[in-house]
Amino acid sequence: STRIGVLTSGGDAQGMNAAVRAVVRTGIHLGAEVYAIHEGWQGAVDGGDGITPMEWDDVGSILHRGGTVIGTARSKDFREREGQLRAARNLLEHGIDRLVVIGGDGSLTGADTFRRDWAGLLAELVDRGEITSEQAAAHPAIMIAGIVGSIDNDLVGTDMTIGADSALHRIVDAIDTLASTAASHQRSFVVEVMGRHCGYLPLMAAIAGGCDYVLVPEIPPADGWEDDMCDLLRSGRAAGRRDSIVLVAEGARDRHGDPVTAEQVKDVLAERLGEDTRVTILGHVQRGGSPSAYDRWMSTLLGYAAVQDVLAATPESTPHIVGVRHNRIAQLPLVEAVQRTREVASFVENGDYEAAVTARGASFGD
Ligand code: F6P
Repeated sequence: STRIGVLTSGGDAQGMNAAVRAVVRTGIHLGAEVYAIHEGWQGAVDGGDGITPMEWDDVGSILHRGGTVIGTARSKDFREREGQLRAARNLLEHGIDRLVVIGGDGSLTGADTFRRDWAGLLAELVDRGEITSEQAAAHPAIMIAGIVGSIDNDLVGTDMTIGADSALHRIVDAIDTLASTAASHQRSFVVEVMGRHCGYLPLMAAIAGGCDYVLVPEIPPADGWEDDMCDLLRSGRAAGRRDSIVLVAEGARDRHGDPVTAEQVKDVLAERLGEDTRVTILGHVQRGGSPSAYDRWMSTLLGYAAVQDVLAATPESTPHIVGVRHNRIAQLPLVEAVQRTREVASFVENGDYEAAVTARGASFGD
């Protein structure tokens, strides 16, 4: 029967378990056999216990759990040809030629490279005598569906990625918590928020948390921003506000491309306003803990749709990312979506902010 492998790769994200559960149960429901590939691509490289069959009950009681119960990794071995050869051989041994890959843009790029190299990898394995040409002929292609799991919400073409909503809740909770202690002491807090090149989390958290100032990678502030920030905070104090909160994206930069850190912002507030200022780096608290209701149901729908997508795939079809677009489950061309995401990241890195914002809003013919 048809065999599907499911793996989570790259940084974990709340809601990955819901997606894994949906993939396993939808696959079984549609008559396929589903295998978990553990610790990301590393499980495929290692074989053995790295690839295990999944039954309906194996994914019971995981919907509400953070992280990913099948493990994740940024596998170095899989980046090398030798690792890919081992992965191809192990998958073939299990008769797996369809994969649902849940991960960030790096993991999805790796998946597509593997897919394109599949025939070459099998030919080499036949040459080495590790598999027979009959085995290779039985699985002429590996078919892949991608689901984006990343708290950063940085994938071009999708409204939301798995984990972004939960991370946002976590950040806003932290802001509410800090606001009460800040107000008691009339202090200022500078909070560093994750997201790599993407300002989604800090921007949305600043709006939802009623913060006073936010620095995001895509909109580097004009020279003199320190004065603007201080004026805003000063007038807030004058109006009677007891707490001031500034959010700084971990990837924040100024107009000249120089990083702006939470410590720097703290020094500005302390020196220019004489504010008693504290820095809080939220770190991995943002990525842990239980998924929000949204991340549970969205990931469930994505897992369901990804299985349908990968079962409908043929060796000739181009792979999709199954995501949410305009609030609907949508199939996006995997290669294009990932390429555009990379483009956005490099525009941000090179300070071409308008190009970054335009590229992020890219249309996919809809
Ligand atoms: O991509 C998710 C993310 O949490 C980013 O927001 C952050 O920059 C990075 O991963 C942290 O990576 P690590 O868990 O390897 O420290």
